[in-house]
Amino acid sequence: MAEVRFENVSKHFGSVKVIEKLNLTIADGKFTVLVGPSGCGKTTLLRMIAGIGPASSGKVLLDGEDITDVPPGKRSVSMVFQNYAIYPTMTVRENIEFGLKNNRVPKAERNRRIEAVSVTVGLDGLLARKPNQLSGGQRQRVALARAMVKEPKVFLMDEPLSNLDAKLRTAMRSELIQLHKQLETTFVYVTHDQVEAMAMADVIVLMHDGEIMQEDSPEKLYHDPDNVFAAQFIGTPTMNILPVHDQAYLLGYRPENVTLSPDKPDDYAYLRYGRILTREMLGAETIYKVDLGQETIMVKSSDSQVKIGDDTWVSVAEDSLLLFDKENSERVRRGDNPHYESILAAVRS
Ligand SMILES: Nc1ncnc2c1ncn2[C@@H]1O[C@H](COP(=O)(O)OP(=O)(O)OP(=O)(O)O)[C@@H](O)[C@H]1O
Ligand SMILES: [Mg+2]
Repeated sequence: MAEVRFENVSKHFGSVKVIEKLNLTIADGKFTVLVGPSGCGKTTLLRMIAGIGPASSGKVLLDGEDITDVPPGKRSVSMVFQNYAIYPTMTVRENIEFGLKNNRVPKAERNRRIEAVSVTVGLDGLLARKPNQLSGGQRQRVALARAMVKEPKVFLMDEPLSNLDAKLRTAMRSELIQLHKQLETTFVYVTHDQVEAMAMADVIVLMHDGEIMQEDSPEKLYHDPDNVFAAQFIGTPTMNILPVHDQAYLLGYRPENVTLSPDKPDDYAYLRYGRILTREMLGAETIYKVDLGQETIMVKSSDSQVKIGDDTWVSVAEDSLLLFDKENSERVRRGDNPHYESILAAVRS
């Protein structure tokens, strides 16, 4: 059982205010991903949980216990860093054993844990090797094993896959998901990659400039974003966002929810006529840029037969249209705003 809670946490570096009165509860046993653009404060938050970059004010709690002033070694948390910092002169076994020796875990217990962990991450048979005799993925596993062997209550990972090539990253991604299922420990995973966040998370905490923009499941974040930032952070190509209703509102729809058709469709909530500007065939899907006159939009379609220069109808069904308030970029949901229906009616015509 390990729940992490931030209560009114602020972090300043001199006069630079990185995080201001942040509140967040990271649920026990869940795979939580902190995601957001570079510099938004992800590593800063993770370091506060680890105890290696204390909060300027506020509290960090582990299972309800205030750990704000507890030193890193006494927190039952383990951190895996971006550059995985394994010792090049030590063998795999020594690397994994290092933290345990420091904590004066007896030899027999150390051996038992090393055997168990190395089987779990698939390093058994490689324990005598030095890091330079390992592949990138195997080195990554050493870093993981070193964190796991401490049997922490909370696992902290800061972009642990960013040094791996695309194929290995995908493979390690599913291994980490499996590992989490197996350990049932609280995972807090930092990435700036929305695809990684969507693929791995039970809960995504989306950050921007030190603030939480939305905290939700991947499904909820994709289908039901709270604001323009969340809507545009998740998904490629980026969600189309266009001003409507005398510029007071923004209409959003995802490229994959647009239908292209040579003939005017019967059923739609949003309809425009445009011309294909560019075409990128990606295999199962083709990405088109479409000129609508006032604006251009992106479309992702399973239809690869549309050509550059073709004129086309562009339509979107009602349940794929999202409305935002232009002034504060917040989502406007049906029921939130008495004008919702009339705005959508105006969009249709
Ligand atoms: N020691 C420091 N002194 C001053 N500013 C710092 C310090 N450490 C971090 N910052 C600033 O705090 C902000 C948040 O940094 P942080 O490392 O948490 O970002 P991040 O979300 O992890 O970004 P990335 O995805 O690039 O790793 C950044 O603007 C950064 O410049
Ligand atoms: Mg970082």
